[in-house]
Amino acid sequence: MDINRKMILFANWKIYMKSRKEVESYVNRLKTSMGIFDDEALEIHIMTDFLSLEYVSKKLEEFGIKAGVQDLFWEDFGPYAGEVSPMMLKDLGCCSAYLGHSERKAYFGENDKNINKKLLACLRNKIIPLVFIGETKEDLGAGMTEKVLRSQLSICLKNVSREMAGKVVIIYEPRWAIGQRESAPPESISAMHILTRKLLSEIYDDDCAFKMKILYGGSVNLKNIEEIISIKDVDGVGAARAALDPDDFIKMIRIIEKEAIKRKAKF
Ligand code: PGA
Repeated sequence: MDINRKMILFANWKIYMKSRKEVESYVNRLKTSMGIFDDEALEIHIMTDFLSLEYVSKKLEEFGIKAGVQDLFWEDFGPYAGEVSPMMLKDLGCCSAYLGHSERKAYFGENDKNINKKLLACLRNKIIPLVFIGETKEDLGAGMTEKVLRSQLSICLKNVSREMAGKVVIIYEPRWAIGQRESAPPESISAMHILTRKLLSEIYDDDCAFKMKILYGGSVNLKNIEEIISIKDVDGVGAARAALDPDDFIKMIRIIEKEAIKRKAKF
């Protein structure tokens, strides 16, 4: 079955930006060199740190580039010192949110139940949730990948209706492939995307699963992006280090835009 799923490219800044000056210089470079892109075929999101969100959102909105964050809290407001309100984020121009990135799981105790609450907060506030799934090296070695992905998906998507599921983006990002020189092997990316869609069909149904976008993340770079996005089930990618140089990011945009236009033309 072929379904027209708009492709997406995410740049994850993590906390690589160290000053407003660095952020300004990145944004200005994009503004002067990027030109237009086909935003009917492709969505581009920059996942900023909280402090840069409003600036990036305002400066890049007219270029069709969306700004998002790398986490948020599950309540809209209230007595939760130190947390960040999804309602406030939306008010400041936030379009999307990463949920459950493996660095949050590894260093900040993030877990699937909380990801589920954050996912519901995103849907309530019209923020696109990007849910991370993926196995660790140990899971992989123990042959546990399918079990891990099934469990992550079923907990993270609890109480998400079939209608709302179409608004959720899933990113398969195996922990062992982050921050490496090479991405996961293309045949493994392909197999994991097929598996993820099968697991989504089990939770919802085939029709719903085929409409949901599944992205790949983990050491995507200028050399491998073309091969990764040409995999049939891959609806886009997330990149961190490789997108930190705005000129490289623009080159990545051009590569994925070509594939996105090709796919759009089939419909
Ligand atoms: P990387 O990170 O592209 O630098 O491997 C990806 C991520 O952490 O999402």
